[in-house]
Amino acid sequence: MTLPDRSALSRRAYVRALVAVGGGAALSACLDVTRDGDDADPVPAGTDDPDSLPARQHAWNEFSARDEDGNVQLPEHHALVPLSLASDAAGDAEGNNGDDGTTAPSEDDRQTTETALRTLERAYEWSHEGLVFTLGYTPAYFDRFEGSLPDSVDLPAPEALTAREDPAFDEFDALLHLASDRPDVVLAAEEGLFGDRNELNGIDLETDLTGVFDRHDDRRRTGFVGAGLPASKTDVPGVPESVPEDAPFLMGFRSGFARTQASEDRVTIDAGPFAGGTTQHVSSMDIQLDVWFGQDNHHQRVSKLFSPTHAADELVGEVGDELADTSGVTDDGIASAEAAAREHGVVGHAQKASRAREDGNPPLLRRDFSTVDGDRPGQHFLALQRGIGEFVRVREAMTGADLDVSSANNGILHYLFVNRRGNYLLPPRSLRALPPTAPNS
Ligand code: HEM
Repeated sequence: MTLPDRSALSRRAYVRALVAVGGGAALSACLDVTRDGDDADPVPAGTDDPDSLPARQHAWNEFSARDEDGNVQLPEHHALVPLSLASDAAGDAEGNNGDDGTTAPSEDDRQTTETALRTLERAYEWSHEGLVFTLGYTPAYFDRFEGSLPDSVDLPAPEALTAREDPAFDEFDALLHLASDRPDVVLAAEEGLFGDRNELNGIDLETDLTGVFDRHDDRRRTGFVGAGLPASKTDVPGVPESVPEDAPFLMGFRSGFARTQASEDRVTIDAGPFAGGTTQHVSSMDIQLDVWFGQDNHHQRVSKLFSPTHAADELVGEVGDELADTSGVTDDGIASAEAAAREHGVVGHAQKASRAREDGNPPLLRRDFSTVDGDRPGQHFLALQRGIGEFVRVREAMTGADLDVSSANNGILHYLFVNRRGNYLLPPRSLRALPPTAPNS
């Protein structure tokens, strides 16, 4: 894999590009840069006591930074690493055959996986300054087993969710999501699990995942979120110079406010053997960013992303700085979505999506991030919810097919092109290593 040209890029753009490339050479180059820069501080160490860690893999909020308004700040750097069981190729003798004739994982595979993941937790503090991660499993993975998932788990196969998309689907077994404010940690953790490393942050690696999983390098995804990061990507074709300096996402505004996110409790499966887990939807999309910034002005962008009222009353500020811990979409704003379509000819994305709130509470915990994978602007939209059906319902509200408005003015639909979708179960931590469909039975 070719490394990016250091001389042509700012430090931040170079480091981001290294995370996107991945692998040992990218890690060495990243360590060279971070040793001299702002990231030179030691990475906080993890724990030898696994019981001190949360029971939920998705328990990130308490261990994340907050902004001055109390909103959780996602870690800045992300990698989504797609995995398939290596036993299919190796013909593992211990495995049982599932309904579809593929091989189920063995107890040895489970132990190796758990040991490798515990090494990550010993090496790095469970926090945005260290590393947080989840390992999720697709419906295709669970097809390896006889019998199906319990009714308490709502995990259908992914499908196209709008008339204007024809996505590919994540049909491999699992997805590892690694996140840290430190780009070198994201790279090193992946290298520790799949590369040629003997130690991570001073901790010896007892085992790795290479005998258990194969990586799908062609479907590896990376991204970033945080003020200033998008504006450092203008070296990428399709990312205009007009991305505001302080924007945390490529489309130019803050998102993920405390009061417009579901709590971790709200998205947690509350019954059955996978209680304490959650489901994850990941859709990857291209964004027509040059049109977004080139054809629309700030007023139009605010109308389409938030609502026409947000634009008329100047509620948002340049990048969302006027909004404290909420999107500012009120019950009145939700009720007036149809009127906005009729009277203004524009409906806001947040205004439409908020129609799916239940008793005023959003059902989705969004942990999405921007990307320039493939050298083009996009978003990896990652959302947690108790069941995938809830995601589908919110996505329908966001699509707003019921609203009488032109596609160009229907929120941000016109600018997004979904090219992949995947659904996952994130089991509780105790079941994260290759769970069967009916654990503890
Ligand atoms: C590039 C893509 C996207 C961008 C830039 C974006 C941006 C935003 C912004 C700025 C808000 C308002 C602030 C906030 O509440 O966080 C918002 C709210 C929201 N968005 Fe998106 N969004 C994107 C894609 C999606 C997708 C694909 C979905 C899928 C359903 C979605 C669902 C939601 C929901 C559920 C809310 C909150 C609604 C509520 O307050 O109840 N967004 N988004």
